[in-house]
Amino acid sequence: MSHDDPNLLTAANNPRHIAIIMDGNGRWAQKRFMPRAFGHQAGVKAVRKMVEYCAQQQIEVLTLFAFSSENWRRPQDEVSMLMGLFLATLQSEINKLDRNNIRLRFIGDRSQFSESLQKKMAEGEAQTQHNSALTLVIAANYGGRWDISQACQQVVDKILTGELPQQAITEHLLNQHLSTHGLPEPDLFIRTGGEQRVSNFLLWQLAYTEMYFTPTLWPDFDEQSLEAAIISFKGRQRRFGHTGEQILNQSVTL
Ligand code: IPE
Ligand code: IPE
Ligand code: MG
Repeated sequence: MSHDDPNLLTAANNPRHIAIIMDGNGRWAQKRFMPRAFGHQAGVKAVRKMVEYCAQQQIEVLTLFAFSSENWRRPQDEVSMLMGLFLATLQSEINKLDRNNIRLRFIGDRSQFSESLQKKMAEGEAQTQHNSALTLVIAANYGGRWDISQACQQVVDKILTGELPQQAITEHLLNQHLSTHGLPEPDLFIRTGGEQRVSNFLLWQLAYTEMYFTPTLWPDFDEQSLEAAIISFKGRQRRFGHTGEQILNQSVTL
């Protein structure tokens, strides 16, 4: 996305790309004296609702942080439970996503996942690759620092093989090698669960994203909650370094 495009200097329109840290599943379950797994299962239901709603609202891209590169530090039984839930959810949802013209894409280092999970991920991407409604991006074993490092690695490899000259390293080139290449930058970032941090999510890509934090725990986050976040987004003036007057004088729709 180019920051010189005046149409992008306003948040009056719907966000094209919403990126969400779905946090608070464990606390949601604990509040009900239930095991954390119960919260993760409820979290999947919230994902379904949000995907349907974003597709209805003609949002172009929804990126969901499902498992961070740091989440392996959790107790082994929770990690296994999450892997099982991930696989089961893909098995039951891919056809449904496909029928709804939703394109599925994964970002993150998938080499650490089981073979069956990697296979299902690849199948889901292949089966839905020509779909043109919402693009649903699932960040799994994702870390923003990993993303920037792997982009650098790809660029260095191209320089070493002579495919690219050393001077080719620019922001644009690095951007093209990030896992999110080809997608518009996130317009709206949402974190549920009350924490106000980025937790190694899309570090590079969030440079000019509008941030929205809500105490609502992820399983309770519903259509109204998302609508509230979008309304907050639409009320903001995105300046990308310009002054507020410059934005207004370009007579863009606010
Ligand atoms: C987010 O909910 C889901 C994952 C990280 C997989 P948490 O499991 O972090 O829930 P809390 O933060 O402990 O409540
Ligand atoms: C971030 O949530 C990752 C996901 C939601 C998948 P965490 O609950 O793991 O984040 P921290 O550890 O509290 O920062
Ligand atoms: Mg958490």
